[in-house]
Amino acid sequence: MIEDFLKMHGKCYYSTTANPCIGGTVLDIAREGTILEKEELTTNIYEMKLYAPKIARAAHAGQFMLLMVDEKGERVPMTMVDWDSTQGWIDIVYQEVGTTTIKLTGHGVGDRLFYVAGPLGKPSRVGKFGRVVVIGGGVGVPAVYPIARTLKLQGNYVVSIIGAKTSNALVYEEKMKEVSDELIVTTDDGSRGLKGFTSDALRGLLLNGQEFNAMWSVGPTLMMKACSDVAAGKIPNSFASLNSLMVCGVGMCGACRVTVKDKILLTCVDGPEFISYDVNWKELAIRLKSYMREETVSLEMLRGADKL
Ligand SMILES: Cc1cc2nc3c(=O)[nH]c(=O)nc-3n(C[C@H](O)[C@H](O)[C@H](O)COP(=O)(O)OP(=O)(O)OC[C@H]3O[C@@H](n4cnc5c(N)ncnc54)[C@H](O)[C@@H]3O)c2cc1C
Ligand code: FES
Repeated sequence: MIEDFLKMHGKCYYSTTANPCIGGTVLDIAREGTILEKEELTTNIYEMKLYAPKIARAAHAGQFMLLMVDEKGERVPMTMVDWDSTQGWIDIVYQEVGTTTIKLTGHGVGDRLFYVAGPLGKPSRVGKFGRVVVIGGGVGVPAVYPIARTLKLQGNYVVSIIGAKTSNALVYEEKMKEVSDELIVTTDDGSRGLKGFTSDALRGLLLNGQEFNAMWSVGPTLMMKACSDVAAGKIPNSFASLNSLMVCGVGMCGACRVTVKDKILLTCVDGPEFISYDVNWKELAIRLKSYMREETVSLEMLRGADKL
């Protein structure tokens, strides 16, 4: 695939002894972060394949990477959705929400991101639990996919619940089907699957007497909190992957601090996955709004620059 990519884009890369050699192709370390493929999955949600052999070699389900689109940009965390350690790529799926993600969409196949780093965070605590339920909402569906895939490979019976606001916003349904024993789809407006939230579907399963030994949820904070509340006292192990705002991503700045069981922890190094019953959700929701003014100013500046 890398060879096809090179032929297609006619780029000239030099090799040095320091460069890694994977699958018989000499790979130039300077190309780390090159966009190999890009696809719009649905409005404002994109899947991007990045050349990142060092990250792909060490990746585990539940971890994330940091990327900087350009020299002046911020470092943003993105979950690694899929990877291939032999071919040296990783997939991310992102939603355009602000300056960095809009800039990312402005880049195409063959472009190189300024900086990529990872894998970061602790791997998900997947293991042999028996019957498990995996929940993803919005762009959290691709993010929960590697967790569901690993749980299935480990021999668990995987029931997945995936949800979105409306059918057009739903992504990764087929991929989730492949790694689930049962798949339930919900949309807020009922345009696909059950009408309602993923937490409603979970409540329905539990009311019907279904039992699970563990639960994972990835998605909006409100969704993860609602699922955690429904599961409390019924599912012994429940994990949520927190989407705290991050600045450094490596435990230096404290921007991603979160209170878990009355202890202050850092999402980037202690998480992103925590036991959902121990998370102070109210504080997390407030902290997510900390930089709203700066985010709006940054977006206005980007839009202003586009008009020049
Ligand atoms: C561990 C981790 C993994 C993540 N994985 C993914 C992923 O796989 N795909 C994806 O699309 N996004 C993911 N995110 C969120 C992503 O990092 C943010 O959407 C991104 O930083 C937004 O940058 P921006 O400059 O485009 O938007 P900004 O201008 O920074 O923000 C625009 C809007 O998005 C909100 N926002 C920003 N960051 C977050 C966040 N962390 N959580 C919730 N809302 C946020 C802001 O409050 C604001 O309303 C992840 C976050 C974390 C912490
Ligand atoms: S993002 Fe800086 S400490 Fe976590």
